[in-house]
Amino acid sequence: MAKRNANLAKLPGGYLFPEINRRKKACQDAHPEADIISLGIGNTTEPLTPHITQALAKAAEGMGMSDGYSGYGDEQGFEALRGKIAEKLYNNVVDPEEVLVSDGAKCDIGRLQLLFGADASVAVQDPSYPVYVDGSVIVGATGDFDESKQQYGGVHYMACTPENNFFPDPADLPPTDLIYFCSPNNPTGAVATKDQLKALVDVARKNRSIIIFDSAYSPYICDPELPRSIFEIDGARECAIEVSSFSKPVGFTGVRLGWTVCPKELVFEDGTPVLQDWNRIMTTVFNGASNIIQHGGLAALDEQGLAEMRETVGFYMENAALIKACLDDMGVQNYGGENAPYIWAHFPGCDSWDVFAKILNEVFVVTTPGAGFGPAGQGFVRFSAFGHRKSILEATQRLKRLSL
Ligand code: MLT
Repeated sequence: MAKRNANLAKLPGGYLFPEINRRKKACQDAHPEADIISLGIGNTTEPLTPHITQALAKAAEGMGMSDGYSGYGDEQGFEALRGKIAEKLYNNVVDPEEVLVSDGAKCDIGRLQLLFGADASVAVQDPSYPVYVDGSVIVGATGDFDESKQQYGGVHYMACTPENNFFPDPADLPPTDLIYFCSPNNPTGAVATKDQLKALVDVARKNRSIIIFDSAYSPYICDPELPRSIFEIDGARECAIEVSSFSKPVGFTGVRLGWTVCPKELVFEDGTPVLQDWNRIMTTVFNGASNIIQHGGLAALDEQGLAEMRETVGFYMENAALIKACLDDMGVQNYGGENAPYIWAHFPGCDSWDVFAKILNEVFVVTTPGAGFGPAGQGFVRFSAFGHRKSILEATQRLKRLSL
């Protein structure tokens, strides 16, 4: 009989967001009349623009005609889309051949974990997007879960707290093979400056670490001085891979389209280009992003698409400002929400799951407990700015009624 993967047995619970959904459903069952508002998972709510849906519809119709039909394409994605990503989103500082299109950043992170395997030691920001750690556990790159520390053995946790402005000193980093780094950060909403990323890149090069840089929220950066890509930093091409996505700026959370940039200069210890092995992984366990959806990606990156993307981002950032203003009025210290669609609210001395439960059960608003992102998230809850305006306004009214 098949033995259970022992690495899966190391995970103490289910994945964070299904667990939150389970608790939301339990609340709904207990209060069938309640209109629960979700500011939990960062799930986009606004419809795709007609410009995008027309591109998708045209591509879908083409599939029904003999001269428009296409089957398998290049696993790396349409050449035109790889070129557009390099030009429009990276100002041509990356080569289209280094851009591999995919079905999303989360899936690419999982495949990168397969690429680096069980022997790669890892460092993560704490708190961090749960896939970095959970995926590392599944491939066997960590030790067991230590209940008392709420940490896995063998993982270096870089605490990101208000005291260090959510940017840990890279000089404290031990030489790990991989460093997961997300900016704009999920969940704290903090964005690293150019100097901070330069310090991280310098340490990674010194330690011969590879940074897996998650820029899924980079279109949410409003401050022009802040870097949107690790490849704006000198030296990053020798030490970084960047994963990113159409999900949050274009509303493709359910449509699915993302990409990873792997520079040609990046090599393993034995000199093998990482891109060569990344291509091997992608051609082996992935068959390319949907040809229909890639046409949507192309539309998102033309002039009209980019202008609409800015509008969509602007809309969600107005939501973020409303949530922040509400928390300020309530006297709740909060961070982020200025260059990122997440607001990180501090409830010192409280257990974040208790705060989550109180907000859910008292005013029927779903948040995400900070402890779900790592031990340094304890005492925080995350508010997502993704929602219809009406729901955000209603949520802010309700939050003010909370008995804190
Ligand atoms: C989040 O809420 O942290 C993210 O939206 C989840 C995801 O992108 O997978």
